[in-house]
Amino acid sequence: MITQREVAKEANVSTATVSRYINKSGYISPKVKRRIQRAITKLGYQPNLIARSLKIRSTRTIGLIFPAIENTFFISVVKSAEEIARKHNYNIILCNTENESDKEQADMEVLKGKLVDGYIVIPTVSNTSHLYDILAGEKVVFVDRSSGRDDEVLIKLDNMLGVKLAVEHLLQLGHRNIAAINIPTNTTPGYERYEGYRTTLAAQNIPLDEHFIQFADFSLESGYEKMKALLASAEKPTAVVPMSILTTLGALKAINEFGYAIPDDISLVGFDEFEYADLVHPPLTTVAQPAYEFGIKAVETLLKLMKGKRLRQKTIILQPRLIIRKSCKRLQ
Ligand code: RIB
Repeated sequence: MITQREVAKEANVSTATVSRYINKSGYISPKVKRRIQRAITKLGYQPNLIARSLKIRSTRTIGLIFPAIENTFFISVVKSAEEIARKHNYNIILCNTENESDKEQADMEVLKGKLVDGYIVIPTVSNTSHLYDILAGEKVVFVDRSSGRDDEVLIKLDNMLGVKLAVEHLLQLGHRNIAAINIPTNTTPGYERYEGYRTTLAAQNIPLDEHFIQFADFSLESGYEKMKALLASAEKPTAVVPMSILTTLGALKAINEFGYAIPDDISLVGFDEFEYADLVHPPLTTVAQPAYEFGIKAVETLLKLMKGKRLRQKTIILQPRLIIRKSCKRLQ
C-alpha cells in the first residue's frame, strides 16, 4: 500500500506538506500542489480515511436525520445543508426516519458508530426528549421540531405567525368559515400552527367550529381524506388552510374530485411554498418557509458547536412569508 512518505519522496516535498495537502489544511503553492497530485496519481496513492479519522479524531462528516426525504421542504433543507457543509470540507450522511421513532433510534446508533462530528435532527415527534438520550454529549442541532430537551439548540419557524398571515389574509377577504387541516399536534409545527389558527380566529371573536377542523398526519392521502370530510360536511367552509405541502396537495386532489373550483367555490392558502405553486391552476397563495435558510443556519450553528463556541441564542426562529397569488377570493 502506497504511503504518504513515498508520495513525499516522489514529489520531492516533506511528508508534512503531503499531510497538509491531504487534509486541505494550511497554504501550499499551486506549483507544489501540482507536484503532489502528480505523485499521487503516478503511485496510485489512496488516503486511509479511517486511519486519518482516528488520528485527527474527526471524520469530517455531519449526520442528517430527517423524517421524510420525499418532501420538498426537507429536500430544500438537505440541499442547502450539504452545500454549506461541503464549503467547510464536511460531507453529510442522510438518514430518512420515515417519521418513525424506531427507525430514528436505529439511525442515531448507526451514525454514532460512524463517528460523525455532529448531528442535524428533525425529530419524528416533538417533546420526547428521552429519545435523544443516545446523543447526550454529541454536538446536535434540532430543526423544525423541538426534541423537548432543556439544553437543545433548535432552529424553527415562527409557525404561529405563518398561520396568522394565512388566516388574516382570508379574514380581510371577508371569510369567516375558515377550515384548517392540521398536521400532527405532537410536533412543534403541528401544535404551533393549530394555535396560530385558533388564536387568530379568537382575536376576531370567531369561535372554533368543529365542522371546520380536521387533524391529518403528514401524508398527501390524509390531507385528501380530511378535505373530503370538510366538503361532505353540512356546514361547508368558504376557505381552507392545509398546514403543510402534502396536506395542501391532498386537499387540492379532493377539491378537484368534488368538482369544486378554486377560488370560486372555496379559497385555499397552502403551507410550504413549493416549486409548482405558481404553475397549478389557479396559482396558489401559500405560506412560505425559508427552507434553504434552515439548512444554512443549521450547519453554521453546528459548526460553532463543534468548535466549542458559545451560542448567543439556543433557539433561532425564522420568519414565514405569505405569497399571495390567485387561490383566494373576496366574499361579497
Ligand atoms: O411538509 C412537512 C411539514 O412538516 C413542513 O411544514 C415542516 O415544517 C415539517 O414539520
